[in-house]
Amino acid sequence: MDILDTIEKMRRACRLARRAGKRLGFVPTMGALHEGHLSLIRAAKAQCGAVAASIFVNPLQFAPTEDLAKYPRRFERDCELLRNEGVDLLFAPTVEEMYPEKMITYVTVEGLSDKLCGKSRPGHFRGVTTVVAKLFHIVEPEAAFFGQKDAVQAVLIRRMVKDLSLPVEIVVCPIVREPEGLAMSSRNAYLDAQQRQQALVLSRSLQEVERLFRAGERDAGRLVAAGKRVFAQEPSVRLDYLEIVDSETLNPLTQITRPALAAVAAFVGSARLIDNLALQKQS
Ligand code: PAJ
Repeated sequence: MDILDTIEKMRRACRLARRAGKRLGFVPTMGALHEGHLSLIRAAKAQCGAVAASIFVNPLQFAPTEDLAKYPRRFERDCELLRNEGVDLLFAPTVEEMYPEKMITYVTVEGLSDKLCGKSRPGHFRGVTTVVAKLFHIVEPEAAFFGQKDAVQAVLIRRMVKDLSLPVEIVVCPIVREPEGLAMSSRNAYLDAQQRQQALVLSRSLQEVERLFRAGERDAGRLVAAGKRVFAQEPSVRLDYLEIVDSETLNPLTQITRPALAAVAAFVGSARLIDNLALQKQS
């Protein structure tokens, strides 16, 4: 695996891979890798002749009050994991390399970037779409792989690619969970044993929503209320939001007549965790 730390070197390495006739797959990450990330790498390996990954904790998507400084960083271990998965190219730039000057140019997916997590984290999605656009221009991948774990992020990226006619296929892979149901996340590293137990309330509430949906309930208000009742049983966890929205527009639904997303965010101690569930007619 070649590790490249400048934009120029990465661009050159990616062009070489593509010139060799290989379909180039790309998996952007912020590191502290877990099985969720590795599932994206494996999907990329299965579909592409060459795979590039990036590790960059992107300051642009953190608010000043958020966990940028303490975000888990495990570069050596991450490299080992990526090497074992057969990743060809790893882009690991410094902040100065990515942002040599104060950024004044952004990519904003208007009308979507302020929904769900975007409401609680103003500027977050603008930071995500801007860095992903920048990474796409550096790597120029044929396909890029994202997790359904960050469902809203995936919706925004798909829309950015469509609106800007970017020549990249977006592949969204399923959520990888711990055996007890907790969605894997780099931020789970913030949790102690007791908080890990408490954090199960996120997936439990979504399981309750799913159970009722499968039983035929289509009233979003009633489904949300049922999910919130599960949260009420775990008062140590502070719910940020639990919403049922249209999977594409992210607008709240009253009746589920189209593919919908039940999305939840909550604070367990100082860790802000998210989870979601796709609600589709009998799947
Ligand atoms: P990060 O949180 O490191 O996640 C990188 C990718 O891994 C994202 O596409 C995310 O959805 C996926 N992922 C995380 N946990 C997962 C899980 N449990 N199952 C499946 N996929 C999972 O998301 C980001 O970084 C950043 O916003 C980034 C896109 C890199 C831009 O900075």
